[in-house]
Amino acid sequence: MSSVLRKILVTCALPYANGSIHIGHMLEHIQADIWVRYHRMRGHEVWFISADDAHGTAIMLKSEDLGISSNKLIKNVRKEHQIDFLNFKISHDNYYSTHSLENLYLLRKIFTLLNEKGFIKEKKISQLYDDIKKIFLPDRFIKGTCPICKTKNQYGDNCETCSATYEPIDLINPISVISGEKPILKNTKHLYFDLPFFSNMLKKWIHSGVLESSVIKKTEEWFKVGLKPWCISRDAPYFGFKIPKHPSKYFYVWLDAPIGYMSAFKNLSFKNKKLNFNELWNQKSNYELYHFIGKDIIYFHTLFWPAILEAISFRKPNGIFVHGYLTINGLKLSKSRGALIKASDWIKCFDSDSLRYYYASKLSNNIHDIEINLEDFVHKINSDIVNKLVNLASRNASFINKHFNGYLSNTLSDVKLYEYFINASSNIESFLENRKFNFVIKESMRLLDIANQYINEKKPWTIQITEKNIIKLQKICTMGINLFRIVMIFLKPIVPDLAIKTESFLISKLTWDGIKVPLLSHQINKFTPLYKRIHIKKISELINLCK
Ligand code: MSP
Ligand code: ZN
Repeated sequence: MSSVLRKILVTCALPYANGSIHIGHMLEHIQADIWVRYHRMRGHEVWFISADDAHGTAIMLKSEDLGISSNKLIKNVRKEHQIDFLNFKISHDNYYSTHSLENLYLLRKIFTLLNEKGFIKEKKISQLYDDIKKIFLPDRFIKGTCPICKTKNQYGDNCETCSATYEPIDLINPISVISGEKPILKNTKHLYFDLPFFSNMLKKWIHSGVLESSVIKKTEEWFKVGLKPWCISRDAPYFGFKIPKHPSKYFYVWLDAPIGYMSAFKNLSFKNKKLNFNELWNQKSNYELYHFIGKDIIYFHTLFWPAILEAISFRKPNGIFVHGYLTINGLKLSKSRGALIKASDWIKCFDSDSLRYYYASKLSNNIHDIEINLEDFVHKINSDIVNKLVNLASRNASFINKHFNGYLSNTLSDVKLYEYFINASSNIESFLENRKFNFVIKESMRLLDIANQYINEKKPWTIQITEKNIIKLQKICTMGINLFRIVMIFLKPIVPDLAIKTESFLISKLTWDGIKVPLLSHQINKFTPLYKRIHIKKISELINLCK
């Protein structure tokens, strides 16, 4: 056990409640879950929360499309999302919703504080308006030609070709995505949060060790352009929380969404008496706070969110952990965001450990995109998990079961080699702590190669069962089982299902402290296949489901 016990709150970005969880979302929850499970294994107090982001124009329009109320839609979707996360063994302590009383309460409280401190200003603006649908158009509902590079069909906030950011008004030939008509300009009033006031604080904060270098670089680009006041209100019709004393105005979904981190924790603290809201969120908190997010929502988390927290004198995060985007190599599925593989389809064809393992083998602490290739996936799972990992257990267990009634010997055949494996744990610990999961997999596979090589050299299958030799056989196979066990401890946060099966096979819990203490003079269970080979033909089944 590490000496200092930490108290940690981990969050994943809140998925929008207008669609299914796909394996791109799952990348983030798996990444965070591995980190959380590791820290729990080390004995730290870790709380892991997320929620549905239940507000905004997109959700309102989607429920209209379906002919149900927005309330009904977000209820249904949340249930579906919770099942998806359960299926992938994501161990959230609370999966809440931003459409909650706690969130409304905190939002109002924070808004009042911001107002009292003079950080909210009102401004008259003209905005693009769909005169047919009678609705002001959010950036994502306007398309047109990029004013910088002239690429057609770009959204109202930024260009996917040249990455320029701009106002929707700047688009050439803008079109409403909702009606397909040309929008008109209409005057309206909005509330703005004084983001520029926090420029200096933010410039310092981003260098305080909370961000990885490529994320600092991205954030610095926004400083170069200069921070602008941030619009936090939206006109009706909208699905969200109303702004007190501002009839027909709603809070912008991106204001109440990060507050959703707080309200999910507040809700958890009602269920768990150990937790206290203020103890976590006050400026002198001894809890650490980490947000796992994707690279598309960096500025909300490195600019707006810390500025709001500073403005209301709350604590700020200790780290924003940003991952890249998932792309599915060689398949048309990757082209548009909507056509990604749904989590619920994946689980019909493959198990969850396989995706967790494959993601881990690709994930590190940077914002590089994660390219996956389904053939490579099948190959990797079979060669790593089946051929190297599970095979090490099965080849040794067969002798232990057959000749020793499941009993492991009282000593190891090679104490030095066992120590070599123990010593590897400090590297593994630092890889897990720093989210370099690809190195955890690499190092584990290197160790398994050594372990399998050891058994190949000792050739237990050639040992003649005589009174003199039998102890030797037991020791070699006990060695093999123990090396397997160490690697399984390293991999436990990544493949929780396999870990549970391994624990019942070994009749012993896989714990971090247990690395140093080999299983000796201990009876294990009959070996049953811990993991079954996966089949290449399942890929076409999966692709058919996505059509
Ligand atoms: N609702 C906001 C987040 C609010 S947090 C206060 C949102 N929702 S989202 O559903 O669009 O995305 C949720 C998370 O999933 C984000 O971190 C996003 O980056 C991530 N991903 C969505 N699609 C993804 C991929 N294709 N690949 C990797 N991550 C992806 O943004
Ligand atoms: Zn452009």
